[in-house]
Amino acid sequence: MNRRPLVEALQRRPVSRPPLWIMRQAGRYLPEYRQLRERHSFQEAVSTPKLAAEITLQPIRRFGMDGAVIFADIMTPIEAMGVDITFDPGPRLRPHTLKDVIALGELDSDQVGFVAETIHLVRDAIPEETAVIGFAGAPITVLAYLVEGGGTKDFLAFRSAVRMDPSAAAEALEILARATNRYLAMQIAAGADIVQLFDTWMGLLDRSTVERLAIPAARKSLAGLRVPRIYFAPGASHTLDLQPKIGADGYGVDWRIPIDEAWDRLGDVAVQGNLDPAVLLTDPDTIRREVEHLLARTAGRSGHVVNLGHGIDRNTPPEHLTALVEAVRS
Ligand code: CP3
Repeated sequence: MNRRPLVEALQRRPVSRPPLWIMRQAGRYLPEYRQLRERHSFQEAVSTPKLAAEITLQPIRRFGMDGAVIFADIMTPIEAMGVDITFDPGPRLRPHTLKDVIALGELDSDQVGFVAETIHLVRDAIPEETAVIGFAGAPITVLAYLVEGGGTKDFLAFRSAVRMDPSAAAEALEILARATNRYLAMQIAAGADIVQLFDTWMGLLDRSTVERLAIPAARKSLAGLRVPRIYFAPGASHTLDLQPKIGADGYGVDWRIPIDEAWDRLGDVAVQGNLDPAVLLTDPDTIRREVEHLLARTAGRSGHVVNLGHGIDRNTPPEHLTALVEAVRS
């Protein structure tokens, strides 16, 4: 029944060409986004369904990707749980102890009803074959922001808090995993065709902590969700063999190792990504060459989703994304 190429590929069914979307495709590299942001703050745009849907649709209109990723942030459900957050441009908040995080309690889905409304508006506006992509931050990454109070170079406060009290960390992750699972289920009920869990800072951790804390929390976040689920942790090549324990359908990989090598380590799953975002800062000839290399390495495997190895850089010329889309489709 479902004829959305992105969904089919993640289910590892045959597709006529690999589907494509781009992490951070809705955002600052687009002049129409920057224009809208002159009149509205980031948080106002996220929490106003008409604006969030408009930003979600901007890259679809220009490039026609196979998936529309809903405009929001990994910290959106945390704000809904009562944490004061500002964006400058990354999230800034009061540093939390593990105890503070445990005290956050449950997410009330009504507090993120604007995300459901955005999903309805996007579904009504995109082509039938385009997938709606919901997302959330993985518990360990969200915990990293909560403990640090924002992005830092090495997240040392977070790493030392986890080392000092692993059982409190596990309890805090349990709270975050429950909220994440509820948030993703709400997005799926509203019409998300697939969901992605972003685990941006998991790769900072050693294998043992990943195995004991990060992976069980990611697994709980995705448990029982009945659409294809992607897990993505950049800078985490040292954990590729552990990641399948999360139980996702597809795994995103960064650019640091060749995609076929990453795929062999992950095993029998769908695989997404691997193009270095720096490639989009080069020129159309280089972009075509890199796409050919990528597709040569995945030839003959089912379940490949074209994407970058991390978010698109804000200085990317939009025409370079056009060149990428054309190279994949030709
Ligand atoms: O197009 C999309 O991918 C959808 C929307 C989206 C945003 N953030 C919008 C946003 C998604 C999926 C995210 C995920 C996110 N947010 C991650 C995981 C992905 C990754 O890149 O590792 C992380 C770590 C965050 C936290 C965050 N929010 C940071 C570090 C920043 C700083 C700026 C940046 O773009 O690097 C933000 C703010 C933010 N989230 C912006 C956007 C478009 C920039 C807001 C602006 O200044 O207009």
